Amino acid sequence: MTKYILSLTLVFSALLAPFAMYAQEQAFSIIYTGSISGELEPCGCSLKTDFGGLARLSGYLAEHRNELSPFILIDAGNFTDQNTPQGKLKAEAILKSYNIMKYDAVAFMNNEKAFPDDFYSAVLSDNAIPAVSDSIPNSQSLFISRNGLDVSISIDPGALRDKSLNVLLTDLPVSKAGLMKGWDVIITSSGETLNEPVTVNNAVILAGYPRGKKTGVLTLTAGSEGGVRNFRHKWLSLGSDVKEDPGVRAILNDYDLKVANLLKESKRPPDGDTYLGVTRCAECHQLFEESWKKTRHAGAFKSLQQAGKSNDPECIICHTVGFGEKGGFYSIETTPELANVQCEACHGLDRDHVEDFSKPMKRVTEAACLKCHTRDNSPDFDYPVYLEKIIH
Ligand code: HEC
Ligand code: HEC
Ligand code: HEC
Ligand code: HEC
Repeated sequence: MTKYILSLTLVFSALLAPFAMYAQEQAFSIIYTGSISGELEPCGCSLKTDFGGLARLSGYLAEHRNELSPFILIDAGNFTDQNTPQGKLKAEAILKSYNIMKYDAVAFMNNEKAFPDDFYSAVLSDNAIPAVSDSIPNSQSLFISRNGLDVSISIDPGALRDKSLNVLLTDLPVSKAGLMKGWDVIITSSGETLNEPVTVNNAVILAGYPRGKKTGVLTLTAGSEGGVRNFRHKWLSLGSDVKEDPGVRAILNDYDLKVANLLKESKRPPDGDTYLGVTRCAECHQLFEESWKKTRHAGAFKSLQQAGKSNDPECIICHTVGFGEKGGFYSIETTPELANVQCEACHGLDRDHVEDFSKPMKRVTEAACLKCHTRDNSPDFDYPVYLEKIIH
């Protein structure tokens, strides 16, 4: 009930404020991301965290363009992950997707600065990205006129402009961003989670939702001299029911192919104290194998194949045995016997036991599960409840 009244109030203030009380003022939206940190799409490990991703965002914006307009689309930076071969592929896929979505401004912050200049010059020559950056000459600020409103977007805290709506992009923490005087809107990519905007010194401070799980929409009315008169804010949580943009999907599929090639090129870790695989344990523990086969662990690799991600190291690590370690899973072609979450993923590698079974294996504790059952990938994880489901 309270919620209903609240949303009615919101609707009223939204309808009355801009058009009745301030008839001459402009209402428009800033749609923003920030701190995406290389997350092209959610992994799909849990329905509860299956939100966000570039293909959904692009599909949503295309389908709702009219009702959202007028708006400007901004990324406040830290959209990339680390500067590794896979990180480069991610950065490229993100910038290509931003090109399709026609971002109005994309800030280059700390994460982006880790990549070499020649990497960007190649990507940016094929993609029209309005970069706001202090490492690219003459690109610290940019100006947009939309629906008669002048908007100035900058990463330079000293670059305020008259008669404009001044938007600062930063990666300072919210507490420090609030000290910047004179700005109307400040968007940070610090990686903090702000459930609601914070207002300090007449500035509306926003933080891009970590890893793009949500996209922010700030709808505001600006005075003719600039300044925010009135605003409301909402988050878009885009789930699997959102229609994806086929153009961005094609970019993500191409990324998956390139990642698979990276894995082929990378060096296989040396054999060593090799993992033995379930077949070996089953020689003596057949009943355990049979009951393990009924758990979802036994189908973990198939889940990746169905998602088209069976060659992505970032997924394989939790859906197989010993990936990245000596004698662990490497690829389905070379080490098919170590696909899935098998006995040794929990019980550990212990060849002594296999050679002499009077030597007991270490007991499995909750810590073994938490390597894979993280908050993001398994938000429902509760040890006693989950243990019950895998008893074998
Ligand atoms: C940190 C470990 C980890 C990583 C990394 C990981 N997963 Fe998972 N994944 C899990 C766990 C744990 C579950 C089971 C979650 C649960 O049910 O509580 C799971 C479940 C899944 C499922 C099954 C969902 C269902 O309900 O049927 C899919 C599909 C999946 N993951 C895909 C992926 C993909 C694709 C990637 C890489 C982008 C990935 N995973 C990376 C741990 C991981
Ligand atoms: C090597 C990574 C890994 C480890 C270690 C691991 N799991 Fe899992 N677990 C997964 C993955 C991946 C899935 C999802 C498989 C799928 O459906 O694709 C999963 C799924 C599950 C499920 C099914 C969830 C459901 O809702 O049906 C249970 C239960 C579970 N794990 C319990 C455990 C427990 C308890 C431990 C520790 C004793 C553990 N797991 C250790 C990776 C792991
Ligand atoms: C998801 C994690 C996980 C996987 C996968 C797993 N186990 Fe276990 N296993 C456990 C846990 C937890 C226990 C109970 C705690 C303990 O005894 O360490 C256990 C107990 C056992 C026990 C001792 C039972 C007893 O009565 O003391 C055996 C034997 C065993 N597992 C064999 C296997 C074999 C063989 C496989 C592969 C087919 C396997 N486990 C796969 C987690 C796992
Ligand atoms: C050569 C036969 C043999 C093989 C192979 C074997 N085990 Fe065992 N294992 C046993 C026997 C027998 C016991 C019971 C020991 C006892 O009761 O003292 C046992 C006990 C266990 C236990 C119970 C705890 C303990 O150590 O007493 C676990 C867990 C276990 N094995 C896991 C595994 C896993 C995982 C593998 C594969 C990597 C494996 N075993 C391979 C024969 C084997």
